[in-house]
Amino acid sequence: MNSSIMNFPNRGKYGNNRYPGNCSGYVILELLKHYQPKKFVEVFAGGGTGVDVAQSLGMDNSLHLDLNPKYGGWNALKDDMPVGSDFVFSHPAYHDIIAYSGNAWGNEPHPDDLSRCASYEEFVKKLDHINAKIYSSLRNGGKHAILVGDVRRKGDYFSIIKDMNWIGKVESHIIKTQHNTSTANKSYGNNKLIRIDHEHLLVFKKNDVWSIPVAVTRKVEQNMKDSTLPSWRDIVQTAMEDLGGKANLHELYHVIGDTKKAKKNQHWQAKVRQTLQLSDEFHPIRRGFWGLTFSKNIKTAI
Ligand SMILES: C[S@@+](CC[C@H](N)C(=O)[O-])C[C@H]1O[C@@H](n2cnc3c(N)ncnc32)[C@H](O)[C@@H]1O
Repeated sequence: MNSSIMNFPNRGKYGNNRYPGNCSGYVILELLKHYQPKKFVEVFAGGGTGVDVAQSLGMDNSLHLDLNPKYGGWNALKDDMPVGSDFVFSHPAYHDIIAYSGNAWGNEPHPDDLSRCASYEEFVKKLDHINAKIYSSLRNGGKHAILVGDVRRKGDYFSIIKDMNWIGKVESHIIKTQHNTSTANKSYGNNKLIRIDHEHLLVFKKNDVWSIPVAVTRKVEQNMKDSTLPSWRDIVQTAMEDLGGKANLHELYHVIGDTKKAKKNQHWQAKVRQTLQLSDEFHPIRRGFWGLTFSKNIKTAI
């Protein structure tokens, strides 16, 4: 394994190729050959891909866990990690893209099935909990390799790796190309959305016995009106959009007057007029009435 890109068009002879959302055995094979762990634990073992890979390498002490009763019905949310190890591979559900309990196995949805979360936020929270648990179980110097996909839902893009906590020191970030996905031939709405053809394989290392580095994503909603960072062009453009793309000076002053940028400049109204004059993105429709368009010539843009 000498590249941060993985591409395995075939999944190999490992595991159940009909198990929904299974991964190529070569992913696990490459990781095991590279890290050569003394003890390998697989969380979310699914259709047995990791079991077969471990067996093919002659490993006789690996452990494969899944809520699926076929793998003992081990519940990542409620049950303890049964052993310590120097390498954990985990391949969680892709939020609710594929339902496991009551679909891939069992007759009923299981309340702790990661693929049965009521919301994306609940899914990420539960995944964080499981990842923290996996990390705690590692021996110092051990690795947690997690294979995570991105999700598109009704046109919205969800980057699970961006939203989940990063627990431990990142050692590698590998992009894995995806093949034979259920969405491969799906056209998204107006077809302008780019198909997701990759997954992320993140490798976290435990570097200290007690201390745990955690990177957390903070989501905030900012208001451009409260910032002096936007240029006058940005401000006038935004006010124009707010006003439907056409506006008179009075309307523009009304919208722009309560921006931080205006409050900090006593000549702000002159600044607005100057901006309208200088950029060809703003064109006069009639005296004192302006429209928003796109710049035709980069040289005339301010
Ligand atoms: C993406 S699949 C893993 C596929 C596997 N790598 C393979 O190649 O077949 C995710 C798995 O997570 C399991 N799962 C969901 N919630 C779980 C939980 N709370 N505890 C343990 N396993 C869970 C599902 O049963 C499913 O098998």
